[in-house]
Amino acid sequence: MPILVPEPHDEICFREDGKRLDGRAVDELRPFSCEVGVIKNAQGSALVRHGGNLIYAAIYGPREVHPRHLARPDKGILRVYYRMATFSVHERKSPAPNRRENEISKVIREALEPVLFLEAYPDSQIEIYIEVIAADGGTRCASTTAASLALADAGIPMKSMVVGVAAGKAQGRVLLDLGDKEDKVGQADIPCVVVMKDKSISLLQFDGEMSLEEMKTGFEYVLKGAEIIYQKQLEALREKYNKITREAEIEDSAVGNLPQNEQKSINESQNAQDSLQNTSQIDEQMKVQNEKQEINNDHKAEPSPLMENSSAINESQKEVEKGEVEEKSKDEKSSEENIIKSSEQSANSTDDSPKQGENQSSQEEQQLNTENDSPSGDDQE
Ligand code: CDP
Repeated sequence: MPILVPEPHDEICFREDGKRLDGRAVDELRPFSCEVGVIKNAQGSALVRHGGNLIYAAIYGPREVHPRHLARPDKGILRVYYRMATFSVHERKSPAPNRRENEISKVIREALEPVLFLEAYPDSQIEIYIEVIAADGGTRCASTTAASLALADAGIPMKSMVVGVAAGKAQGRVLLDLGDKEDKVGQADIPCVVVMKDKSISLLQFDGEMSLEEMKTGFEYVLKGAEIIYQKQLEALREKYNKITREAEIEDSAVGNLPQNEQKSINESQNAQDSLQNTSQIDEQMKVQNEKQEINNDHKAEPSPLMENSSAINESQKEVEKGEVEEKSKDEKSSEENIIKSSEQSANSTDDSPKQGENQSSQEEQQLNTENDSPSGDDQE
């Protein structure tokens, strides 16, 4: 398992070919990139990658001041919180804010105040939160660049954008934009914040020794580097507004903000669809009404299904009764027939006239019928 050990601080900052250890020329910036709108909850935000630095800045406000006693009736206040993440450097950094962080917060605030219209926000505050995720030398400059970009992203009026970049000296040579090692082993370090509108300097710190000539060269480098960073800032802001415009165009086309001809045909087809829908709705309503009417009529003319059922039951009962009666009458008939046959046989034996026999049988039939009508007659049988 590899053990992470910080590089030893030898004095060498240049390669044999005369270039810096990372291959840069003396007046060359480290790779720089930035973007805005990276923190959705913030009013404005920016992410800056400058060399090995990775820094977020977020803006909140103008809003009410807490604690209230800090509020000023004549102008707003700017509050800056520069913090380094515990994991942003080789050795674990204490999470508690230290003197260095408080000092850097103060210098960034002082570098930004001149470009803001704080008098427009009495009794209010604008807060800038800066979080250094990875530190690689020159974090105060990169943080100021990020803060300026985030302020612009938040739409807070400024006299100008500002850019932070440092010049310095290492091994007797003037350098632009010192890296971590150059910062630590170098002879001088001049962090600067440039107000891009008039190329004035809103922050200048100086640590080390430099001649006046070297300082002039250093400022030249700083202005050159600041211009490059400024262009990248503008590009990031433009990119955001281009994205918003593109999204708005897509929304517009989805809503129907199309060329007149296309819009007209869409409107026409939509009207046709609407009218179709209306007519079909009317048809439906008519259908329902007709059906209701038919049902009402049916109710009047015909018995209800319940009634129908009950009448059917009655009918079937009647039929059953009728069937029973018929069966009974059949049985009776067969018995009568038997009686008749026997009587006929006896009659034949005495008298051969059929009329007499018929009359007799009909008389007997009648007699039997009257007996069957009475219940006691069945019992008797
Ligand atoms: O970052 P900047 O140059 O503005 O501030 P500095 O105080 O001169 O710090 C120089 C560098 O030292 C930082 O950028 C960090 O990379 C490193 N540093 C560190 O390693 N541990 C700390 N607690 C503070 C700074």
